[in-house]
Amino acid sequence: MILITGGAGYIGSHTNKILNQQGYKTVIFDNLERGHLEFVKWGKFFKGDLRNIEDIRDCFKKYPNIKAVIHFAAYAYVGESVQYPDMYYENNVLGTLNLLRVMQEFGVNNMVFSSSCATYGIPRKIPISEDIPQNPINSYGKSKLLSEQIIKDFAKSYGLKYIILRYFNAAGADPDCEIGEWHEPETHLIPLTIFATIGKTPGLKIYGSDYPTKDGTCIRDYIHVMDLANAHLKSLEYLLSNGESDEFNVGLGRGYSVKEIVAAVEKVVGKVCNYDYVDRRAGDPPILIASNEKIINKLKRFPKFDDIELIIKTAYEWHIKSL
Ligand SMILES: NC(=O)c1ccc[n+]([C@@H]2O[C@H](COP(=O)([O-])OP(=O)(O)OC[C@H]3O[C@@H](n4cnc5c(N)ncnc54)[C@H](O)[C@@H]3O)[C@@H](O)[C@H]2O)c1
Repeated sequence: MILITGGAGYIGSHTNKILNQQGYKTVIFDNLERGHLEFVKWGKFFKGDLRNIEDIRDCFKKYPNIKAVIHFAAYAYVGESVQYPDMYYENNVLGTLNLLRVMQEFGVNNMVFSSSCATYGIPRKIPISEDIPQNPINSYGKSKLLSEQIIKDFAKSYGLKYIILRYFNAAGADPDCEIGEWHEPETHLIPLTIFATIGKTPGLKIYGSDYPTKDGTCIRDYIHVMDLANAHLKSLEYLLSNGESDEFNVGLGRGYSVKEIVAAVEKVVGKVCNYDYVDRRAGDPPILIASNEKIINKLKRFPKFDDIELIIKTAYEWHIKSL
């Protein structure tokens, strides 16, 4: 059995679907604070909070045959992390430490961990490879880097084996529209642009028009959520077949500016998006693009959704269905 923390959330639920399709038995551990019971369509569900170590022990006691953990559960809003850093350290760092302690108590030694390109901060080099220094510039990124360091220490001292996946921007939805992106509040560009284009919101705010990029707006790397979910499956299989601990970026390896995303959404939806430029947000690097060479070479994981309009189409179809 595979334990998926945060499996009622966006990326965790897509990973849960893929794992079940591949015949794995799963148990979702989630407090439902930011996830949805409607997304737990496969496997077992255990309601618990990682900040309460007894909840984790109870789950491991109930499911004594857990072989590996895929750890998604965390808070993931950059702005909120700057406003309430204590909340982020408690949930993301203490939550990870509690989970690792219980895994050790129960002799479970395999973990796939959700990290982020936010751990790199403002990168000195594009595309970003795994070996560049990690200098996060907000408490969210710092909480993920601290969690990575704790995981690596557990590996050195207690024999844990891990794969750390540093995602770039997760996007899109399950092409069957059974699950999709559902964050409250929504802060991600593609859903916000879709909402503005279909008239669900009055308009889109574009933060900054004077970045040193081709059209003055920020450039990001968007990876389809099913490709991300597949990266977790590959990482899990690699660990379970005695692969060495490692860390990988997960991105498409290609960047799109905010204006290019707006144009692609307009094309997919067939309507014009109403947008305004507002001031830059503090701490937004101009360009974030992953080098995905390492994961392709080592885990043989090639992104299947490598067209931005296709990625947006799956998101659009999900949002239309769930409106
Ligand atoms: N969405 C992205 O683009 C992106 C990019 C990089 C990294 N990540 C990381 O991927 C992971 C999943 O992101 P997501 O977008 O699916 O987020 P999400 O908010 O949709 O899912 C997170 C889930 O974790 C649960 N959770 C949070 N704290 C918990 C706790 N203490 N105990 C039990 N459950 C708890 C929430 O209820 C939710 O279901 C996070 O760790 C995030 O930092 C996401």
